[in-house]
Amino acid sequence: MVNRLLIAWGNGVSRRNNRGFDPPSRDLYMPLMAIREIISLPDPRLRLVSKAVETITPEVRALAEDMLETMYDAPGIGLAAIQVAQPLRLITMDLAKKEEEPAPRVFINPEILSSSEELSVYEEGCLSIPEYYEEVERPALVRVRFMDLEGKIHEEDAEGLYATCIQHEIDHLNGVLFIDYLSKLKREMVVKKFKKAAKLAAK
Ligand code: NI
Repeated sequence: MVNRLLIAWGNGVSRRNNRGFDPPSRDLYMPLMAIREIISLPDPRLRLVSKAVETITPEVRALAEDMLETMYDAPGIGLAAIQVAQPLRLITMDLAKKEEEPAPRVFINPEILSSSEELSVYEEGCLSIPEYYEEVERPALVRVRFMDLEGKIHEEDAEGLYATCIQHEIDHLNGVLFIDYLSKLKREMVVKKFKKAAKLAAK
């Protein structure tokens, strides 16, 4: 299912010639999409504030496609560009349930326009903080504005999992992680655990 969908996404954009000197025909021999490496805690890049996407270039489209593929492969339901080390305000998401058809979505320069006073609690996880889950309280309903890959502006009311997910991902664009909503003690414990693991992996 995912493969068929991803093929449909491959629109033949030139995406591997960013070195400048590759002839365009070279793309014919390159895979359409690539799984990118997901950076994880304590990588300091996760704390960067991402920049707005000014123009939807072939590189931006390629990034969105790669992010979807990376997200499905992980697997996860949402991914922000900074998680693949690109500090751009770009998010991918698919909230379809397992038995449903995939519903890939791309949000460019997303903003929260308003949030409800009513809160809801979800157990959150993050592909950059693997295998750690905690309950986080966030506004239950948010109004969000974003651009799609065609440059069209949308405004939508998000509720339920969609509301939580879009807030979690927009937080990434501002260098904020869901562990920031936990107690200092819990947060420090997680960070310590990941720092230790990174140290061991580097040996
Ligand atoms: Ni995350």
